[in-house]
Amino acid sequence: MKERNKGRVTKDGIRVYEEADFEGMRKAGRVAAQILDEMIEHVVPGTTTERLDEIITNKVEAAGAKSATIGYKGYRHASCISVNHVVCHGIPGPKKLKEGDILNIDVTVIVDGWYGDTSRMYVAGKPSRKAERLMQVTHDALMVGIEAVKPGNTFGDIGAAIQRFVESHRMSVVRDFCGHGLGRVFHAPPNVLHYGRPGTGAVLEEGMFFTIEPMVNLGRPETKVLADDWTAVTRDKSLSAQYEHSVGVTADGAEIFTLSPAGRFHPTWE
Ligand code: MF3
Ligand code: CO
Ligand code: CO
Repeated sequence: MKERNKGRVTKDGIRVYEEADFEGMRKAGRVAAQILDEMIEHVVPGTTTERLDEIITNKVEAAGAKSATIGYKGYRHASCISVNHVVCHGIPGPKKLKEGDILNIDVTVIVDGWYGDTSRMYVAGKPSRKAERLMQVTHDALMVGIEAVKPGNTFGDIGAAIQRFVESHRMSVVRDFCGHGLGRVFHAPPNVLHYGRPGTGAVLEEGMFFTIEPMVNLGRPETKVLADDWTAVTRDKSLSAQYEHSVGVTADGAEIFTLSPAGRFHPTWE
């Protein structure tokens, strides 16, 4: 408890962590990223998202970690799995994946009290050309956002960079969900918007930890949440994609805590 109160909180309510805290985030991030690496072989036509979630649940336990999502606001699963026009927070279920389905798997683990939150795209079989383009743009949008992370820049700089990039490809950025501060908590200030104006918002400082997790739609940006109170879908039923990293601000840029140990965060589909 005392430990949690150490360190500084900015006027915007953002915690500034210490050098030693980076190691905790590295471990948690690595566990989450490794689980996502190990899921690649399991995503095949005919499997179900609840089977994938069961595998993830077992892997979280095998890693000696805890799932951050089981029990979170009543959520009951170790992952969110969002297929095709599902934007985020898809609930694992019995529906079978079909050839060409694209899906985001989002896993958050707790290791020694630190949170590692990451998501990436998968394909059951081979994606269509437009799905492949969507996933590439979404992945690159995340990386463009991370390139804007350095002390002295603002959160608006991150959002503006992502929005500009996505719209230059005539796709749209979802406004209804955002990234978030994290560390020894799952969701903390600030809201990390994936759109906005350069120079606006809180100023980044070394030691801030947060996620960047842009959701990109092929059609319009509007979403709606289904009657299950979780599943967010595109209103126009267009395809949606998302990639998420947990990052820390360093003296001159960003450290990505959730890099893929296997180098397969965004494979190219042929
Ligand atoms: N991992 C998600 C995020 O990126 C949050 C999922 S909360 C859940 O913030 F309850 F839906 F799992
Ligand atoms: Co997140
Ligand atoms: Co997440």
